[in-house]
Amino acid sequence: MTPHQALESSRGSLARAGARADRRRVVPAHHVAPMGFSAVSSALLANMRELPCDLFVPSRRHAVLFATVGASAPDIAGRVKSGVEVLVRTEDEELLAHALVASIPGVLSDESMSVDERTLAVYNLATESVRPLLAPGSRTVTNRLELSHDMVDAITQRLMLDDRLIWSMVATMQKHLETHTHALNTSVYSVVLAERLGIRRLEELRDVGRGSLLHDIGKVRVPPKILDKPGPLDEQEWIVMRRHPGEGHEIVTKALGYIPSYAHIIAEHHERADGSGYPGGRHGNQVAVDSQLVAIADAFDALTSARSYKPASSAFEALRTMRFRMAGQFNDEVLLEFIGMLGGWQELRKHELRALEISTPVRTAIQAAGA
Ligand SMILES: [Fe+2]
Repeated sequence: MTPHQALESSRGSLARAGARADRRRVVPAHHVAPMGFSAVSSALLANMRELPCDLFVPSRRHAVLFATVGASAPDIAGRVKSGVEVLVRTEDEELLAHALVASIPGVLSDESMSVDERTLAVYNLATESVRPLLAPGSRTVTNRLELSHDMVDAITQRLMLDDRLIWSMVATMQKHLETHTHALNTSVYSVVLAERLGIRRLEELRDVGRGSLLHDIGKVRVPPKILDKPGPLDEQEWIVMRRHPGEGHEIVTKALGYIPSYAHIIAEHHERADGSGYPGGRHGNQVAVDSQLVAIADAFDALTSARSYKPASSAFEALRTMRFRMAGQFNDEVLLEFIGMLGGWQELRKHELRALEISTPVRTAIQAAGA
């Protein structure tokens, strides 16, 4: 089988795997809830021990009490149809979000679930918990920001302990390429890449996890008509867009009341090694290594995700673009490590992650100059 045929056949398996995963996926809460209530997906409850607050179900535009605080969360989740929304009082939303994040370490180490079930559950918990923070126009609430720290720290710590979780998480990410998942995807790629590059101290890995998760938080101040424009931005729009790294730095600093040790990652994630990036147009080692690696993870996930203005590239196409069409923009050593990381053939085979569309010959072709 040629590398091209391998790619085509793995594309099919990616689509099938995606369809399977979508059926099991937690449906995010979007329906309009009665005044004073917020809708949450009942599937998110399954991994908590007990309810941290009262739960309601919608009935003719009203909320009817369904379960009270302290009830067994898995029992309640079992009584509600999969994907159905339940309601919590809006003032309890924060409490529930904390309880969901607190359940992450337990889920990741729960031997009664398969590795893939654990990572899918945590992926859904994590993306849902970070969604309000990154929604366009949202005000950054300090509690939410600190909650996102706890969430990504819990995932970082666990991933570093178990390679199986890493590869399963990467496979899950490859099946869920949407705008609101970009933050978590970038974070997982970044933490694993940082570890491979020899960044082993927990504080440093935490900074990579937090900075990469929040790298685009400044986009909450970019109007959606610019963010989602189905064509190239004009000069004025680019001026606005180029502000988001600086705005992000300001947002986290203001919300926390101090400059967090990961803030430089947010400020520098669009700088490029050849000086073509923004906002500073800094070159090579003027940019911190952790910012450089986050830039690679960010670009890769953006290229492999479909947007309103472009289709998704395969992993192979994305890496080839970054290596050749964008030659010079990324730290070459870090990029090669990233390519090697995704092409970890043994691990990919072991976990049947052919969805990544990278085989040993393809990886070699990417690494060889002029391929
Ligand atoms: Fe960005």
